[in-house]
Order: sequence, then structure tokens, then C-alpha cells
Amino acid sequence: MDLGIEGRIAFIAGASSGLGRAVAVALAREGARVAICSRNRKRITAAADRVAQETGVDRERVFPLACDVTKERDVDDAIERTCAHFGGLHILVTNAGGPPPGYIDDLSLETWRAAIELNLVSTIQLCRAALPHLRAAAAADDPHASILMITSISAKRPIPSLYLSNATRAGVQGFAKTLSEELGPAGITVNTILPGYTRTERLKELAAHLASTSGTPVEEIEAGWAENNALRRIAEPEEFAAAAAFLVSKRAAYVTGTGFPVDGGWSKHVL
Ligand SMILES: NC(=O)c1ccc[n+]([C@@H]2O[C@H](COP(=O)([O-])OP(=O)(O)OC[C@H]3O[C@@H](n4cnc5c(N)ncnc54)[C@H](OP(=O)(O)O)[C@@H]3O)[C@@H](O)[C@H]2O)c1
Repeated sequence: MDLGIEGRIAFIAGASSGLGRAVAVALAREGARVAICSRNRKRITAAADRVAQETGVDRERVFPLACDVTKERDVDDAIERTCAHFGGLHILVTNAGGPPPGYIDDLSLETWRAAIELNLVSTIQLCRAALPHLRAAAAADDPHASILMITSISAKRPIPSLYLSNATRAGVQGFAKTLSEELGPAGITVNTILPGYTRTERLKELAAHLASTSGTPVEEIEAGWAENNALRRIAEPEEFAAAAAFLVSKRAAYVTGTGFPVDGGWSKHVL
């Protein structure tokens, strides 16, 4: 299927590794020009080189930006520089690292505030900065504009040790649904995508944390995660990215306001 994103311009946050980088690869492979950001200039530049290498696209079509999504000014600058560099914006993918694990007595109020900044406020600010450009893209002769927010399966079913993730993702889900109503008449789709257990640095860190607190070997922890999925395995980032590429594409122009799990059947709800 031609996704209809050839030549489109996408901004993907948190893309020096893991899910964000995989989404950048998937979109670049479909012919989009991609701006990617993360906090660390060296890492994001290396990621841009890798995206170009893996896809065989011209390196000029991958624009790396150093941007901490918790900093309002960084976000504004990154979006403006993307639009100046490529000439507009059609697709916004919001993302950042995950907050630390912990139970209620482990987490200070400062840690709570940092997580809300990292996973909720950053999403809101990325949308605020991108909106004028997305509105212009949706009003153009060949209209197309979409927002996809990376959250977590913890938004659907809270995971006991991940208070910060559970609470902040729920906020993003509410924000996304509200935004989809307001932006629908302008032709801008807004969806969230909920990764299940997927092989990235973040998952390695979670497994190591659980292993150190429970004394269970990492292999057993991973086997337990896989066992709870209908597909009985952990996902690869490319599998997540394929679903993301569809959701931001023109082929998904009638899909909005949804929370789309890519979790191998981890969610046990009927709908
Ligand atoms: N992998 C999973 O199984 C899974 C499951 C459910 C939910 N999730 C969630 O999905 C998101 C992505 O996860 P992942 O597995 O891809 O994690 P990852 O491999 O750790 O990648 C996180 C990315 O975000 C960047 N980043 C972190 N903080 C940032 C900030 N303040 N501003 C800009 N960029 C920032 C990191 O780059 P720099 O360090 O260079 O800034 C990195 O590129 C996280 O929120 C995670 O909790 C993941």
C-alpha cells in the first residue's frame, strides 16, 4: 500500500534511539523528509546518519536537532527550524524518554513534577508549537496533517511499578481526545499509539531495575512479559513503527481520536 507520505515533512521527538528512531526510519523509507530531535547533539546526529544509511535516502532528507522537549524554548526553536529547513510541517510525532519506575513511597513530589513535564507538558508544548504549521498543511491544495502521540499500554491498564507513566499517559490520552475534536473540522487527525513491551534501551533499563529489586534474572522477567502477550513475544521497534507510519499517513485520514495499542495482545479488553 502506498501510504501517501512521499515528500511530506515530519517532526519526530525523542528519536536518537528506540521507538522514535524506528518511526523516523519507517517514515524516511516511505519518502518523507524527517526532522528528528533529542537532548544530545552527538547522539541525534549519529541517529540521523543511521536513518539515512538504513533507508538509503539522501542524508539531506534527515534533519537532526538538539532539543530537550521539557524546555519550551527548545521546542519552539526546533519546530521553527524544521519549517525553515524543509518548508513546512505535515506530521508531528510526540515522544520522550520514559519516567523512572517506583511505588508511591519511592517518589518525591519533585520526581512527579519532572515526569509530568517530561511526558505530558512536553506533548502539549510540541502540539502548541506545531499547530500553526499543521493548520497550514491541512488547508493546502493537497491537504495532509496529523499528530501522533507515543504513550504506553500503561495508559490502558496501569502497571503497578510505573506510577509516573500510568498517570502522565492518562493525561496525554485526555489531551489527545480533546484535541482531536477541536482539530477535526480543520482536517487534522490526532491519535495516540500505545507501545507494549518493545526491545529498546528503555526496556533494558526497566528489566535491569526489576531484576535488582526482585532478585529475578532479567531473562525470567522478559519471559514473563512475553508470556502475558497473545503473541508470546516482545516486539521489535520496526513492528511498532509500521503501525505509526500508517496512523500518520494520508491512508489513515479517517482515523482520529483513537488510542492504538501495538502490544502483541497484552491488553485483554474486547475493545
Ligand atoms: N520500549 C517499550 O517497551 C515501551 C513500552 C511502553 C512505553 N514506552 C514509552 O515510549 C517512549 C519511548 O521509549 P523507548 O523505548 O524508545 O525509549 P528509549 O530507547 O530510552 O528512547 C528515548 C528517546 O527519547 C530521547 N529523550 C529522552 N528525554 C528527552 C527529552 N527530554 N527531550 C528530547 N528527547 C528526549 C532519548 O534521547 P537522548 O537521550 O539523546 O535525549 C531517546 O532518543 C517512552 O516514553 C517510553 O516510556 C516504551
